[in-house]
Amino acid sequence: MCGIVGYVGPRQAAPIIMDGLRRLEYRGYDSSGIALLNGHGLDVRKAAGKLSVLADELEGTDTSGTIGIGHTRWATHGAPTTPNAHPHVDQSGRIALIHNGIVENATAIRKALIARGHEFTSETDTEVLAHLVGELYEGNLEEAVAAALRDVEGAYGIAVICAEEPDTLVAARNGSPIILGVGEDEWFIASDPSAILEHTRSVVYLDNGEMAVLNRDGYRVRTLSKRHIDKPVNQIEWDLATIERGGFEHFMLKEIFEQPESVENTMRGHLLEETGDVRVYGLKLSDEQARRINRIIITACGTSWHSALIGKYMIEELARIPTEVEYASEFRYRNPIVTEGTLVIAISQSGETADTLAALHEAKSRGARTIGLVNVVGSTISREVDGGLYLRCGPEIGVASTKAFTSQVAALALVTLRFARLGPMTAAEGRRYIDALSKLPAQIREILDRSAEVEVLAERFADATNALYLGRGVNFPVALEGALKLKEISYVHAEGYPAAEMKHGPIALIDENMPVIVVAPRDAVHGKIVSNIQEVRARGGKVIAIVNQGDDEIARLAEATFIVPETLDLLTPILTIIPLQLFSYYVALRRGCNVDQPRNLAKSVTVE
Ligand code: G6P
Repeated sequence: MCGIVGYVGPRQAAPIIMDGLRRLEYRGYDSSGIALLNGHGLDVRKAAGKLSVLADELEGTDTSGTIGIGHTRWATHGAPTTPNAHPHVDQSGRIALIHNGIVENATAIRKALIARGHEFTSETDTEVLAHLVGELYEGNLEEAVAAALRDVEGAYGIAVICAEEPDTLVAARNGSPIILGVGEDEWFIASDPSAILEHTRSVVYLDNGEMAVLNRDGYRVRTLSKRHIDKPVNQIEWDLATIERGGFEHFMLKEIFEQPESVENTMRGHLLEETGDVRVYGLKLSDEQARRINRIIITACGTSWHSALIGKYMIEELARIPTEVEYASEFRYRNPIVTEGTLVIAISQSGETADTLAALHEAKSRGARTIGLVNVVGSTISREVDGGLYLRCGPEIGVASTKAFTSQVAALALVTLRFARLGPMTAAEGRRYIDALSKLPAQIREILDRSAEVEVLAERFADATNALYLGRGVNFPVALEGALKLKEISYVHAEGYPAAEMKHGPIALIDENMPVIVVAPRDAVHGKIVSNIQEVRARGGKVIAIVNQGDDEIARLAEATFIVPETLDLLTPILTIIPLQLFSYYVALRRGCNVDQPRNLAKSVTVE
């Protein structure tokens, strides 16, 4: 979604801001803009479309200035046009503002401003905010921003500069992340650390209701009501290489291939081989507290919701605790029942998804204990949960989530074992799981070594316009995730179904042009899925099956098979999803799609 970058220091701001915006491209956007202060007032440039359009516009022109702000916009209020792109300026043309989030009372404020003579050039809520700051400006930008924000309802992360204060940049946060980068005699603002990682790893995370005031001598953090706040400076652990493609054609492919290491990193330090147990101090649940949990709700969006479904299968089967999975966007608005003993688990790669965050707030307000399975360190969800587990799979840049998914499932396995070993699971059974978990990285590597086989399959089926994904039990969510991957990056319509449900509708779609991808490792429901494959074949459907070695029965029925190594039934999703990720990648490639930045999608959805 929208990205923010700001700079104050001795260097030229424009190249630093443009590089930062390029690093944020992965989040998804449809227009961009930059505002600079160069001693002769405000210089604002904007363009609809890709960042390269803005770059072309800047090329060969005077872009001098050592303070500035830049933005990539993902349209919410108004189409992705140049006038709607940020930065927006106030009525006087002195103040420029960029904004992530949504001002909910923008219509009312806009009306009042129009009545007082303001004229607007865009349809955005952001321009309203810029005008409000401008109207309240009496020679002190910091105070004008604070006063304006006191009137604003909704979520925002903003950065503001003013021609009359050429040494000051003001930023503020309520809901949408803002971090401050601390360099040597230079300071940065960003919505995501990757934008500034090239320059500094020292960051300050703003909390809701806080403002940062940056100038050439340093920075201060305060509340809207002027209370000074001492903030710790945190060190980002990743280095630049982790956010670069490193020889791969796309981030998505790089991230698929990182999974042996990323899954290993998620589990590192948590597996206790001797006792068949796990050590996850981060959950902040004593044995006694964990035993009191009698119901679990897992809430998430998108791919994270699919991993949540797998978590339900694992927790119910092994820990025998009733577990429900809720779309975060539904949970937050439906008066959910949270009883004593309910644990709410929020899963989010970014840790910033607005609906998941709101669901978490809802759960907390109803007295639930909360834990988060989050990848981005320092993200909002990770800081608001009672306890949790970082996925530690490194930055995920490709919009279609891959390595975060397998790490989420691995993290859910750890959570499951934590509860299961306090309940019905014996030490011997625990050891079996620990052993199987520790073998997964090598097994993923085995699959990746045969990626060329998937590429051949993708070539054969790249022209299909529809695809059906089927799975049973714990591999039903894998079917959903496989279908989502294909939809997201190749724009082929695909649906995931529990295999047996196929005959209640989707079977009507099956003909000889319809690839049916069946996830069928040799597990407890294998015999049933063979029957489902026969039903597809009887209608001329072309089956691609994900199977284990030696599955002659399915090999005879299917048009093509891909073999994955064997593991315990409940852990199979970590292996069966890998060929499906590769399949969608290679299909998208064949169809000429923009794999890392698919149309209309955003990496981190920070609006409702
Ligand atoms: C967006 C992304 C998906 C992701 C979902 C949830 O829609 O495009 O890939 O699964 O958000 O994101 P989260 O960061 O909360 O896991």
